[in-house]
Amino acid sequence: MNVLGIETSCDECSAAIVRDGREILSNVVATQIELHKPYEGVVPELASRLHTEWIAQVVQSAIQKAGIGMDEIDAVAVTSRPGLLGSLLVGLNFAKGFAATLDVPFITIDHIRAHLYASQVEKPLAYPYLGVLVSGGHTVICKVNGYDSIEVLGTTIDDAIGEAFDKVAKHYDLGYPGGVVIDRLAKSGNPMAFLFPGSALCKGEHPYDISYSGLKTAVINQLDQFWDGESEKSAENIAASFQRVAVGTLMRRVRLALDDTGLKRISSGGGVAANSLLRSELKALENLGYEVAFPSLKLCTDNGAMIAALAYNYLQDGVRSDFSESASARVSAFKKSYP
Ligand code: KG4
Ligand code: ZN
Repeated sequence: MNVLGIETSCDECSAAIVRDGREILSNVVATQIELHKPYEGVVPELASRLHTEWIAQVVQSAIQKAGIGMDEIDAVAVTSRPGLLGSLLVGLNFAKGFAATLDVPFITIDHIRAHLYASQVEKPLAYPYLGVLVSGGHTVICKVNGYDSIEVLGTTIDDAIGEAFDKVAKHYDLGYPGGVVIDRLAKSGNPMAFLFPGSALCKGEHPYDISYSGLKTAVINQLDQFWDGESEKSAENIAASFQRVAVGTLMRRVRLALDDTGLKRISSGGGVAANSLLRSELKALENLGYEVAFPSLKLCTDNGAMIAALAYNYLQDGVRSDFSESASARVSAFKKSYP
């Protein structure tokens, strides 16, 4: 089964053809990064306009690169939630038109579930596993019981982790997009130059919840307060110190959740799963006997392949979406539970 997956929830205009949920025949990602760069952040109105201009070509290119004909597309899948509403609507309506014209099944996909599924495309991981979704819009620690079954254990209560990376980079004019730049700068910085505060573990009902706004504020407004007085106040040192705490704060929750749930497998996804420090800290869990999976860099950030691959599971189970379905900017109502 060849599934066309379309993803336009934010600033990547992407389409992919995935065969039988595993074989990526093509995965075209047209990024708008350069066009949002002057504004140092994604401008929603600009994003949706660019998707409108690019989507037809991106889909055409995905089909060509896959080396298949239109008549070999068996289903169309598209991200419908959550994300920037205007951007989502471009992909959604294009997908509806395409599926109707080809007269093939049509299905809408949840972006968060797709990020949590992405590593499965390359390396199947048995359920259940601990899912760690870290992106520009979300920070979610959850128990993944199946491709459609997610129990949220903890979320950010304010900024998402990627948002904190982006805002720190923006404040210090380090470059755009911030996560990638901080990751690069941190490699030549001293992670102990500034002893920024991490968010303390919350006692009681919400032990896996996480906050990034305090760390972000400390890095932006209180640099002197957390400086050892000797290291250089360089971009590299700020980046390395911030990244150490941002990743460390997350890893404390991850280790606690692994202990509490007894889960032995873990998978991470989302743009920040491309972060080299986070990847090495997750990988180190293998030494403690955990099975660890994360997607290759191309499948961490937004892409159509993860949408098509996840869709394959729903399609195999006979699930279809209605053409009357609309897009939603909001996160689906996941049930929050505590082990
Ligand atoms: O998953 P994604 O492409 O879009 C959302 O669904 O949000 O994630 C984008 C986020 C941005 O905040 C970007 O700065 C961050 O992922 N990011 C990184 C790295 N690569 C991308 N953050 C830290 N280190 C990286 N190497
Ligand atoms: Zn994403």
